[in-house]
Amino acid sequence: MVKIGPSMLSADFSKLANEITAVASAGADFIHWDVMDGHFVPSLTIGPLVIKALRPHCSLFFDVHLMISPVDPYIDEFAAAGADSLIIHPESGPHVHRTLQKIRRLGKKAGIALNPSTPLNVLNWIIQDIDVVLLMSVNPGFGGQEFIPEQLEKIKQLRQFLDQHAPNRFIDLQVDGGVNEKTAPQIIAAGANRLVAGTAVFRDGVTQYAHNIQKLRKA
Ligand code: DX5
Ligand code: ZN
Repeated sequence: MVKIGPSMLSADFSKLANEITAVASAGADFIHWDVMDGHFVPSLTIGPLVIKALRPHCSLFFDVHLMISPVDPYIDEFAAAGADSLIIHPESGPHVHRTLQKIRRLGKKAGIALNPSTPLNVLNWIIQDIDVVLLMSVNPGFGGQEFIPEQLEKIKQLRQFLDQHAPNRFIDLQVDGGVNEKTAPQIIAAGANRLVAGTAVFRDGVTQYAHNIQKLRKA
């Protein structure tokens, strides 16, 4: 079963509570939060306070994508804010293994995000500590970018890698960046089971969210 999570980066920030309620009733399976620090990536977005404020407004799984460096000092705060998963980039700190274990110890799902240029072998010695791999099909930092077609081959190899290296449990493969009704079928065929979509979900305003999510699901 493919799960679809709207990236709130494309929502109307003047009314985030309404926006998450709207996508939840439009059929979203989870909510994706893009946390950016203006240093690891050029943009600057939200921190734990915003996630905490919105937590009571929505019972869906909160998927928190941390594009911040250093990441370690903020893990506790994001966990306490109500994140269900914390996804880190391996480039964002020197002790990725320890960070992942900490996330799990806090009772959260632990994830690794792979930039388009990050090789799969960064997963070699941490595979036992991850629940989800977020494959970036654009360079992180902005919504509305074009899907990088070469990443389709990477998705295939990643699915094989995960099945080979963790044969006894299913690790989620989530794709983020440039997901739309044209790219989604290729991404799923390549082996992803979770899709993050910003532009494609929030396009044309609140009356279209259900239609947009439906279109992705049908695709
Ligand atoms: C990019 C973010 C994505 C982004 C996706 O750094 O990680 O989650 O919001 O946006 P679209 O779907 O517009 O490519
Ligand atoms: Zn993201």
